[in-house]
Amino acid sequence: REKSEQELWEESQTRKADITHKKKKPSNEKQYDLVFEDQIDFVMQETTKGYDKRDKKHSKVKEMIKKEDEDDKLVALKPITEHEKILAGRKKLPVFPYREEFLAAVKDHQILVLVGETGSGKTTQIPQYLHEIGYSELGKIGCTQPRRVAAMSVAARVSQEMNVKLGKEVGYSIRFENCTSEATVIQYMTDGMLLREILTEPDLSSYSCMIIDEAHERTLHSDILFGLVKDIVRFRPDLKLIISSATMDAEKFSKYFDDASIFMIPGRMFPVDIFYTKSPEADYVDAAVVTVLQIHVSQPVGSGDVLVFLTGQEEIETATEILIQRTRNLGSRISELLICPVYANLPSEQQAKIFEKTPKGARKVVLATNIAETSLTIDGICYVIDTGFNKQKSYNARSGMESLVVTPVSQAASNQRAGRAGRTAPGKCFRLFTAWSFQHELDANTIPEILRTNLGNVVLMLKSLGINDLIHFDFMDKPPADALIRSLEQLYALGALNDVGELTKLGRRMAEFPLEPMLSKSVICSEKYKCVSEVLSTVAMLSLGSSVFYRPKEKKIMADTARMNFARGGGGDHATMLRCYTDWASTDYSDGWCFENFVQVRSIRRARDIREQLENLCERVEIDKTVSKPDDNDALLKAITSGFFYNVAKLGRTGDYQTVKQQRTVYIHPSSVLSKEEEPPLWLVYFELAFTTKEFMRQVAPIDPSWLVEIAPHYYQQSDVEDSKAKKMPKSKSRGR
Ligand code: CDP
Ligand code: MG
Repeated sequence: REKSEQELWEESQTRKADITHKKKKPSNEKQYDLVFEDQIDFVMQETTKGYDKRDKKHSKVKEMIKKEDEDDKLVALKPITEHEKILAGRKKLPVFPYREEFLAAVKDHQILVLVGETGSGKTTQIPQYLHEIGYSELGKIGCTQPRRVAAMSVAARVSQEMNVKLGKEVGYSIRFENCTSEATVIQYMTDGMLLREILTEPDLSSYSCMIIDEAHERTLHSDILFGLVKDIVRFRPDLKLIISSATMDAEKFSKYFDDASIFMIPGRMFPVDIFYTKSPEADYVDAAVVTVLQIHVSQPVGSGDVLVFLTGQEEIETATEILIQRTRNLGSRISELLICPVYANLPSEQQAKIFEKTPKGARKVVLATNIAETSLTIDGICYVIDTGFNKQKSYNARSGMESLVVTPVSQAASNQRAGRAGRTAPGKCFRLFTAWSFQHELDANTIPEILRTNLGNVVLMLKSLGINDLIHFDFMDKPPADALIRSLEQLYALGALNDVGELTKLGRRMAEFPLEPMLSKSVICSEKYKCVSEVLSTVAMLSLGSSVFYRPKEKKIMADTARMNFARGGGGDHATMLRCYTDWASTDYSDGWCFENFVQVRSIRRARDIREQLENLCERVEIDKTVSKPDDNDALLKAITSGFFYNVAKLGRTGDYQTVKQQRTVYIHPSSVLSKEEEPPLWLVYFELAFTTKEFMRQVAPIDPSWLVEIAPHYYQQSDVEDSKAKKMPKSKSRGR
């Protein structure tokens, strides 16, 4: 798999030679005024098959094009409103000519597998068709999405198409946010939310149709849903089930759903030329930036926008910064470049930006995670830059270690990415890896999440649905036995299951919270340590998934000082977050305070929402949410440790840490307030591990090892914590301020 150093070196030499060659013979086109030092050489390798307007194979498509042309003429004739324009757009989608046929198929079949290219209109149109023909009179029409951003943006779009207010007839529900009402007939939701709904409504009786969308993504939650809805349709003959997917895996879905019929929407794809780099790129973020600029100066503006696939928010922010910097340096020598980032945690106001039409004379570049692979359709993209990576969860059942790792994408995913360039016109896809690497180093298909994740949360959910025999659950792909056993063990250790694997009372209460089992255990235990209010704030902040602390490059020092102000008083990252939240709350949730303290307003507001939701759930499991013990780090961290006693590490000789049970070497993440501590704590509890350059612990706090024996006597013996007991814990670090 790996190339020898010699080979890589040789390749890099040939590359250099090529570049010099190119520089010596600049073409006389304008673009070469701006040859970059670090120009990347691409080779064109293949062109995907595509359909374009001249190819009138399908009579339907022919008809449609005729209709489109007529529509265009009409549009040209009379001025129309924004909404009329939107309606005309609906009729141009590839799914539209198949509307009647599709509805007839739904009538005849209880389960349908719906297949169509990204952008055909599956997500936005199908629920409306079902609504228009009257299914919504029998019950809601539900449609799941693997991602929050997609659920929200699609709901917004459809409410616009239907000319109704979002949250009324068309709504969405995602974890910690419910934007639906009594009036809602079309409901978009994350697949995780539907799982939660099944907990309270096991037969989905309020729905007449359920669409499991983006099924090809095979998220953990979708996979569990497949098993559950397959069962539900057996005793709900009136429930229509649609499994909707991009062009991958249709046969597999059909087979799994007892040979369900497949409804195929013929694609309207234009050919895409695929380019590879001549040699591997060491830094794909930088290579992506260079390629964006290369495209921007060498291809006419107006020939299409650019979509770049990166792996996460951090990379996207870095790339954005570099791009801004470089375009600024190039000044008026290039036309305007609009930079639009998109990733899961992006605030919704900013999401809207990616769908806006690019003004004349400018070019849009969308920097996205794999969210733009199939979930979001952005019109006008003609150039795709594929770094060949994404972030994937990986789970080692033996060590119990779950980490988010930057991983090469599969060939299928890479082809899907390339397809984004050919939606509206013939396109180009630039792969930042070699053709050899595509052939030999990429897996054919992405491994479903269920095969590479910690199952704790879903096992708890399935158990509370009364599904006790998990080994015989009808999984589309069975999770590895050791992963299942591992999560059962973990839930047992947390006290959620008894020794015959049944849900305990504690487990039932834990399942009420839409949180990882360790977090819900901490919430429940906070009652015992009389710090419910504090734990709720901390857990809400931990659930954000990204830091609330803002650190602009040019004001790093000020930002760090602001953050360290919250750290004063000890208790590590957990207490730091808590103090930040509490201080903000005491200013009556002031935005100005956030700016002064380098806190991301939107993130912390979201924490407030999450906290409110958790408070409500506390009532349901009879926890008094008002119990509070301000400024008591020990109480807070004992409650946290009650859930996270699995995640404990001990200081090693050389400043690294060893996880206590698995003896793995890990490090404090540089973003932690404890990372620069002169006297690092001997024992730590950590929130999660993230593997980037090293195995890092994210969100850490110092603990007293004697707590472990007190809190989890079934898991820790005196001997586990003995040797360091003699050395005293640095007291100052764990006391309140
Ligand atoms: O689900 P599928 O990929 O088949 O297509 P879709 O998401 O229903 O998108 C159909 C069309 O709706 C796209 O071509 C976009 O133009 C438009 N759309 C939009 O403008 N804004 C959104 N948030 C989602 C879709
Ligand atoms: Mg879709």
